[in-house]
Order: sequence, then C-alpha cells, then structure tokens
Amino acid sequence: MSERIAVCPGSFDPITMGHLDIITRASAMFDKLIVVVMNNISKHYTFSPAERKEMIEKCVKDLPNVQVDVYDGLLAEYAAQQNACAIIKGLRAMSDFEYEFQMALTNKKLNPNVETLFLTTSAENMYLSSSMVKQIAGMGGDVSDFLPEVIYDDILKRISSKN
Ligand code: PNS
Repeated sequence: MSERIAVCPGSFDPITMGHLDIITRASAMFDKLIVVVMNNISKHYTFSPAERKEMIEKCVKDLPNVQVDVYDGLLAEYAAQQNACAIIKGLRAMSDFEYEFQMALTNKKLNPNVETLFLTTSAENMYLSSSMVKQIAGMGGDVSDFLPEVIYDDILKRISSKN
C-alpha cells in the first residue's frame, strides 16, 4: 500500500501547545505528516517563515515521521505536489467553524483528491491562539503554559525586544 501522507498547514506565528497537540495526534494517524508554514493574507506576522519553520522543527524533533516545510502558494496545490491525501486542521470553538468550513470546501474544489480532516482541540487549549500568546507575552504576562518549552526563551526574547 502507498504511503499515507497528510499536510498540517498554518501560520504558526509562533507554534503553540495547541498546534503541537494537533501535530502529535495527527502524526500517529499517518505514515508521514508535513507541517507547512503558509501565508494567511489577512495576518501580519511577527516571525519570518524561516523562523517559524525553525521553531516548529525544534518542537517536533522527537516525532520521526513529521517534516516541516514553508510554502508561499495555494494549499490545494501544495497538497497535490506532496501527494497528500489529507489536510489536517485543529478546531477550537464554533467560532473557527465557518471559516474553516469555507476553506475546506474551497480546497476540495481546487484539489478533489484531498480531504480536510478536523481534529478537535484538547480541552486545555480551547482558548489558545498565537495572537493571544503574543499579546500576553508583550505585556509581561506568563505564557509558559502555552508555549513548547524548547522555544519559550527564544520567543520571549523576540517579543520583549519588539516592545
Ligand atoms: O494558522 P492560520 O492563519 O489559521 O492558517 C491559515 C492558512 C495559512 C492555512 C490559510 O490561510 C491558507 O491555506 N493559506 C494558503 C493560501 C491558500 O491556499 N488560500 C486559500 C485557502 S481556501
């Protein structure tokens, strides 16, 4: 049987415990999981694509079937290039749903060979988002529960140097 490949796309600006939870769970479901740093046209980023990739790589070093990549183009095209059968997304609350549903249908139209699968977030990460973490850290709050330990110091240094 051919290798089952999935892609897990996102901004990851920066990767949080919520993302890492979804990546870890998805990696157990596929032969290969490609975490891909992409561009969301409605966002302004704090970290460069290369920095976001490097942070993710540090966090997934113990997950042997996970690769990390950067792609500046359409997700549906990237999934086809990689021969992926699935796009993995994490769903937090109902507020995520409408937007994610629209993207899933659009991606299906652009690439009928790929299915979007939603994993429900773990309860402790329901409220977590990269922008919230940046906001709290920028105001001196404690974000140690929200960020993977291996990248915590790097992120704090970067965010405090911007303020
Ligand atoms: O972490 P985010 O910001 O919610 O991720 C959104 C992302 C980057 C996955 C989405 O904006 C995306 O797929 N961008 C790539 C460009 C694309 O394919 N756009 C059409 C999606 S329907």
